Amino acid sequence: MLFKVLLLAALSPAIFAVDHQIILGQNNSLAFTPDQVVADIGDTLTFIVVSRNHSTTTTVFSGAVCPPPAGGVGENGWDSGFLSSLDGSTPQFVYTVVDTAPHFAACAQAAGAHCRAGMTFALNPTAYMTYDEFNANAMAS
Ligand SMILES: *[C@@H]1O[C@H](CO)[C@@H](O)[C@H](O)[C@H]1NC(C)=O
Ligand SMILES: *[C@@H]1O[C@H](CO)[C@@H](O)[C@H](O)[C@H]1NC(C)=O
Repeated sequence: MLFKVLLLAALSPAIFAVDHQIILGQNNSLAFTPDQVVADIGDTLTFIVVSRNHSTTTTVFSGAVCPPPAGGVGENGWDSGFLSSLDGSTPQFVYTVVDTAPHFAACAQAAGAHCRAGMTFALNPTAYMTYDEFNANAMAS
C-alpha cells in the first residue's frame, strides 16, 4: 500500500514541476532575464518586476508585435497587467504552462516603447520561431 502511494506520487507531474523565475528590469534595464525559457506542461513561470513599471503580455510573433494588446494574444496567452516596482516592492505574476506551443511576450509599457527597445520574452521558442527573430520583429515593429 505504501509502495502504491509512493508510486502514484512519483508519477504525478506536480512532483516534477519546475518553477522558472524571470526577472523584469534587472539593473533598471528594459529586459527579461532570462529572455527565453523552455518549460514543460505543469511548470510555472514566475515573473518578478524589480524596477520601474512593467508587464508581461503575450503578443504576435511578427507584424504588429509592439505594443502587446491588453489581455495578451494567442490561445493560452497571458497578461500580467502593469506591475509597478516604483514603491520599492517586487510584484510577481505567475503563469502555469498548459501547452507546449511557443508563446511570445513583451512589456506593454509606454505604448510599446519598452517592447521596441527589446523588452521581450519567449516561452518554448522553436527552430523556426526563434527568440532572436521575434525580438528583431519587435524592435522593427
Ligand atoms: C545586471 O548586472 C549584472 C552584473 O553586472 C550582469 O551580469 C547582468 O547581465 C545584468 N543584467 C542585465 C539584464 O543587464
Ligand atoms: C504603471 O503603468 C501604467 C501604464 O502606463 C499606469 O497606468 C500606472 O499608473 C502605472 N503605475 C504606477 C504606480 O505608476
